[in-house]
Amino acid sequence: MSTKAAKRSAKQKPGHRAEETFRVLISHQRIRTRVRQMAQEIRRDFPNDQIHLVGVLKGSVLFLADLARELGGEVSFDFISVSSYGKGMDSTGEVKLIKDLDVSIEGRTVLVVEDILDTGLTLKYLLRLFEERKPKHLRVAVLLDKVERRIADVKADYTGFVIPNEFVVGYGLDFDERYRNLPDVCVVRLGPHGKTKVDA
Ligand code: PRP
Repeated sequence: MSTKAAKRSAKQKPGHRAEETFRVLISHQRIRTRVRQMAQEIRRDFPNDQIHLVGVLKGSVLFLADLARELGGEVSFDFISVSSYGKGMDSTGEVKLIKDLDVSIEGRTVLVVEDILDTGLTLKYLLRLFEERKPKHLRVAVLLDKVERRIADVKADYTGFVIPNEFVVGYGLDFDERYRNLPDVCVVRLGPHGKTKVDA
């Protein structure tokens, strides 16, 4: 999901299911092509290394799965889970570790895999945490980048698509845990009432 604030506001209306209208922003075909290009770029930079993919749960799972299959060569996976709060105007930037990595990253070529880069607060926290653990290389791949939302001074090494500040779901991104399984990245708009409609 694009922002936790939106997730929270959805949960503030128990029993109320707002009308949700979808528009495809990035089709699965475009995603597939771009993920393949990104994998080629990454493999070119590290032709002989085992690339240790660190997925940030849960949104990155589909992207990581597709990227891993396109990378070729030696690849390993691990996952981390964090939750952040206070991401609004009064942001504290605090991030809480929910599940740490299973194995050490010391001396490894690590690629942090994120579905979306928004304020950048999550990534800033993760990079600081990982740098202390002395990886050989530490790089970041994000599928979507909402550049205009950035608060923290971070950027990805490999970016799929720069997108406008719209509420997006699909291909791993959720709205209140729904729609992660949509093959396309879609913009969702919430109406007052009615049923869910996918128009593309
Ligand atoms: C999203 C995304 C990043 C984070 C980016 O996760 O996967 O981890 O938000 O936001 P930031 O740049 O503002 O810190 P989310 O908290 O929605 O959890 P999810 O991946 O489980 O949906």
